[in-house]
Amino acid sequence: MSRTIALRDVSKRYGRESYAVERVSLTVEPGEFLVLLGPSGCGKSTVLRMIAGLEDITEGELYLDGEYANHVPPRERDIAMVFQSFALYPNMTSRANIGFPLRLRDPATDHEPQIEATARMLAIEDLLDRYPGQLSGGERQRVAMGRALSRHPSVFLMDEPLSSLDAKLRGHLRAEIARLTEELGVTTVYVTHDQAEVMSLGHRVAVMRGGVLQQVSSPRDAYALPSNVFVAAFIGTPRISLLEAVVHAPLDAGMSLDLGGQRLALPEPLSIDHQLLRIQQGRPVVVGLRSETVRIAPPSQARPGEVAMRGIVEHVEYQGHEALVHVNTGSRPAVVADLESARPPAAPGHRRRPHGNSLGPLGRRVMGRLSGAVATLEPPQSSSAGDAGVDPDRRGVRSDLVVRTGPQVRVRAGAQVPLLVDLAQLYVFDHAGRRICPAPDGLPDLEE
Ligand SMILES: Nc1ncnc2c1ncn2[C@@H]1O[C@H](COP(=O)(O)OP(=O)(O)OP(=O)(O)O)[C@@H](O)[C@H]1O
Ligand SMILES: [Mg+2]
Repeated sequence: MSRTIALRDVSKRYGRESYAVERVSLTVEPGEFLVLLGPSGCGKSTVLRMIAGLEDITEGELYLDGEYANHVPPRERDIAMVFQSFALYPNMTSRANIGFPLRLRDPATDHEPQIEATARMLAIEDLLDRYPGQLSGGERQRVAMGRALSRHPSVFLMDEPLSSLDAKLRGHLRAEIARLTEELGVTTVYVTHDQAEVMSLGHRVAVMRGGVLQQVSSPRDAYALPSNVFVAAFIGTPRISLLEAVVHAPLDAGMSLDLGGQRLALPEPLSIDHQLLRIQQGRPVVVGLRSETVRIAPPSQARPGEVAMRGIVEHVEYQGHEALVHVNTGSRPAVVADLESARPPAAPGHRRRPHGNSLGPLGRRVMGRLSGAVATLEPPQSSSAGDAGVDPDRRGVRSDLVVRTGPQVRVRAGAQVPLLVDLAQLYVFDHAGRRICPAPDGLPDLEE
């Protein structure tokens, strides 16, 4: 029933030189649930629409079960799609809406049993005789899903099916979708820009940015071993803290990471992960610290592999089971472009993504390009340039580090706190945004 979807160097150009999707290669295995993730405007819907046949492929090839499918009409692809803004026929009951694709395909047969079965699956039996106007948003979404699922497609494409719902309903339906697709074993591509959906849903996640695929991996690896600074920043809540740093490796002393106000000494002998840092001597890098990598404790309590820092508490977010402590360490936060907003529209005849003709130290706009992956780092000032009414000096004082603690830890804004950083969990990215630490081949296997 389920099928393999393969994209080979697939690109989509709407204008003459504006790539919405650029050389995406990706294989979705039969029965797999793949989440396509990325900020608004990065090309997710376009990829989905090309798979469905609703959009022409400009360059590259699409294969369905190994067969070249670029020109197969949508109807013959046996693909069901739930759209970003789902549309039910307002003058049809839920029953008629769900039965619509069945009637279209086979008008002579009684589809009632199949409609009932689909409704049971989605727990909407009671709603079958209501019209869309008499349903809540979540209920409408279920009916829309019922309509897509009723004819047992072999591929299920969902484009942000939960984006219009409130958080609670979203969580509930998310679990439902996971169960349903697992049960049906249907190959599914699920588009979202909500990274929280990734961890709970996907077998694998494909992260896109500016039309380009950044990483395809398990959600766990996307979190633990992000290929670049963009993926690191996009996946994980709270967002990873990214600090500008310089590698300091004098001949006569140990190596350290200079974070502006403070230095993180890397103990000798250097770990495998930190050895590659030596060639970055004197160069700007970005240090990434996840909130669980740092704890509030004095140097006397340091465990092996932990180094001391200090900071001033800016504010504390109590979240019931834990607290997030926002700390200012005096370092300069590195800001990754494109994380949330759509990119500015491209001037006609220009490629949308910026080119790296202004390479320089991290204080200025820096970008790099590697195997199709692009990482642009810019200082906070330029990221909100033109933001009239915001005092540029005020922006510099916000916290640069988020530390996760138990709810029992009592710290007040303004207090100076000692910090311990677990070096084994430290990320370092080079000037182009590529991950250097942990070493790209993965973490060393401690068992051997
Ligand atoms: N019909 C079109 N003509 C021209 N440009 C388009 C067209 N459709 C999409 N684009 C552009 O292509 C890019 C990718 O759009 P797409 O809809 O695939 O983004 P998305 O990742 O789904 O974003 P969102 O999360 O906001 O839905 C955007 O810059 C968009 O403006
Ligand atoms: Mg979209």
